[in-house]
Amino acid sequence: MVSKKDIKESYNSLKEEINRHNFLYHNKDNPEISDTEYDKLFLKLLKLENEHNFLDKNGSPSSRVGDTPQSNLKEFIHEVPMLSLDNAFESEDLFEFEKRILNKIKDKNLNYSCEPKIDGVAVSLIYERGILVKAGTRGDGEQGEDITHNVKTIKQIPLELNGSHHPNKIEIRGEIFCEKNEFDKLNAQYLKSNQKTFANPRNFVAGSIRQLNSEIAAARPLKIQIHSSGFVDQNYSFKSHQDMLNTFSNWNLPINPDIKLVNSINDVILYCEKLTKKRDALNYEIDGAVIKIDNLSIQKELGFSSRSPKWAIAKKFKAEEGSTQVVAVNFQMGRTGTLTPVAQLKPVKLGGVTISNATLHNMDEIERLDLRIGDFVKIKRAGDVIPKVIKVDKKKRKEKNKKILSPTNCPCCAKELSFFEELTPNLGLSNISSKNLNCYGYSQFKENLKHFVSRQAMDIDGLGSKTIDQMVDKKIIKSIKDLYFLNEESFKQLDGFAEKSINNLINSINKSKKTKLSNFIYALGIKEIGLETSKNLSKRFKTLENIFHASVDDFIAVDDIGEVASSNLYSFFSYELNKKFLREMTDLGFELKEEKNLSSSSMLLSKKIAITGKLSSISRDKLKSDLEELGVKVVSSISKNTDYVIVGDDAGSKLEKAKALNIEIIHDKDLSSFLKKNEN
Ligand code: IVH
Repeated sequence: MVSKKDIKESYNSLKEEINRHNFLYHNKDNPEISDTEYDKLFLKLLKLENEHNFLDKNGSPSSRVGDTPQSNLKEFIHEVPMLSLDNAFESEDLFEFEKRILNKIKDKNLNYSCEPKIDGVAVSLIYERGILVKAGTRGDGEQGEDITHNVKTIKQIPLELNGSHHPNKIEIRGEIFCEKNEFDKLNAQYLKSNQKTFANPRNFVAGSIRQLNSEIAAARPLKIQIHSSGFVDQNYSFKSHQDMLNTFSNWNLPINPDIKLVNSINDVILYCEKLTKKRDALNYEIDGAVIKIDNLSIQKELGFSSRSPKWAIAKKFKAEEGSTQVVAVNFQMGRTGTLTPVAQLKPVKLGGVTISNATLHNMDEIERLDLRIGDFVKIKRAGDVIPKVIKVDKKKRKEKNKKILSPTNCPCCAKELSFFEELTPNLGLSNISSKNLNCYGYSQFKENLKHFVSRQAMDIDGLGSKTIDQMVDKKIIKSIKDLYFLNEESFKQLDGFAEKSINNLINSINKSKKTKLSNFIYALGIKEIGLETSKNLSKRFKTLENIFHASVDDFIAVDDIGEVASSNLYSFFSYELNKKFLREMTDLGFELKEEKNLSSSSMLLSKKIAITGKLSSISRDKLKSDLEELGVKVVSSISKNTDYVIVGDDAGSKLEKAKALNIEIIHDKDLSSFLKKNEN
């Protein structure tokens, strides 16, 4: 009989062999065996796994696909915040970057790692002892979404790192992207079969990696390039950024081949110029270069601002211009009901991307450009910004070119439109807007609903974007009010809705009727009215009924509310259709509590509190809002000015820092007594 030990050994070497072939095929484009031979090895692996329960299947190539669909993505807390980068547009900005650094550090010998800035979706990969255990999106930098099930399907990402002596825990960061030719091919297929197309490869990737069902991501041609790290185990270190990238590459993680180390800003500029020339020839989108100080101790010395590291900068490509013809002008409705004229263009390539639409902002802009349908125009695209029409070629204008008229009725619900002056920030531009909150214009209504149920609004858990799309398409929900009449039957018509989540969802919908007035106002998605302003409105007016009777001047008297916001509020709340709708809603048994005025007796008033780790007793958002109600300033990084740190499970470097700075630590389990004690 073959011993357990022998089986384990042959299993491990088979895993290793398959991993090596995966790497050769997906990362090196250089397979050594045929697909059939590969399939045979894979089958052998599956057979072994099926037959022997004692085998450790962690990191096995067999765990790439096949997770059951989940009803919602879980939260993914970043131990080290995932920050953004400062931008440089001109060479001057790069010299400034160097000057700022030289003013701060003793070592004047700087090496710069110059890297293509991949225009994809940032991802964080957590490896423990060489095994991929978790992956998450960036989210707001502090908290993203758990996308492990999808990331595991990306063949270029090793489920088990090559080599040995890996750190106990490391967070590796990179960019998931889709190659241009694959994207164009797929989009053409989608168009042909009347499916949803994607505006650009980045949107396509973002949509793919947030799918609940990993089979969808598995079928899409997603790739990755690794560019940085987050949390790194304390007893593991790299000599430099380049050393780190080389190590990653030895672990079989894909690194961009065009990364170069240089030792002067002049060479950085040369690199950027060469990269600009190469941009169109690359089979993936880049929107600039990232320049990083290579020396890790200098990186540490320079540190971070709240938004970005001080040791790196993104050199963005200059805006690109091109010429084409306007075929039509359509009016697109945004979530808050504003109609934006969009020029439909004869497709033209700019920076390797095909452009077929450009924004015209509003009617005044059309007048300023003196644009007509059929005109030849100059368009401009800067990075990921929506392309703009910048000039009309009047010499090429034909007499038959038609003037563009303002629509009189909403293109979606055919109800009357309102015209208003947006006083700031674009001084005196007239806008067109639908007044009807329940306008059934698909995209607007869906977006309104998604906003209505979102965490900071009505906080209805479990009603994801895809479910809303389906419910609107199938006409199960025709007005926001219909949410509160959903029952088990309503869900039977939907694809892939697990039985057990139906009850949770219905509970969550009912629970949302008891909320704060501020969250309810915010949920209505009125232009310019964010959560803070909603809180101020709630404190001032106390009930919805009082708000119905408020005048423009009453609104202006509220903190933070200027002329634009108050006219939006007035126009929204005085519109009969909205009033009727809100009364019907509140008749469903809503209990809208007014915002507490921060009592100066709260012992936590103005205290700075940081939260780290996974909380089990409460969600992060809820805790944050509870603390804010007590007048706390919730901070994301820890300094000597932080008063308390609330810690959950798996807290990493922040906890260490708090201990080092002697900051009082509150454990998750002691939270409720801590809050009670400090309430007043
Ligand atoms: S380093 C603190 N290197 O660009 C951020 N980022 O605009 C350090 N990106 O969030 C990241 N290519 O997702 C780095 N070679 C590269 C990159 C890169 C693309 C993304 C990244 C980052 C975003 C900032």
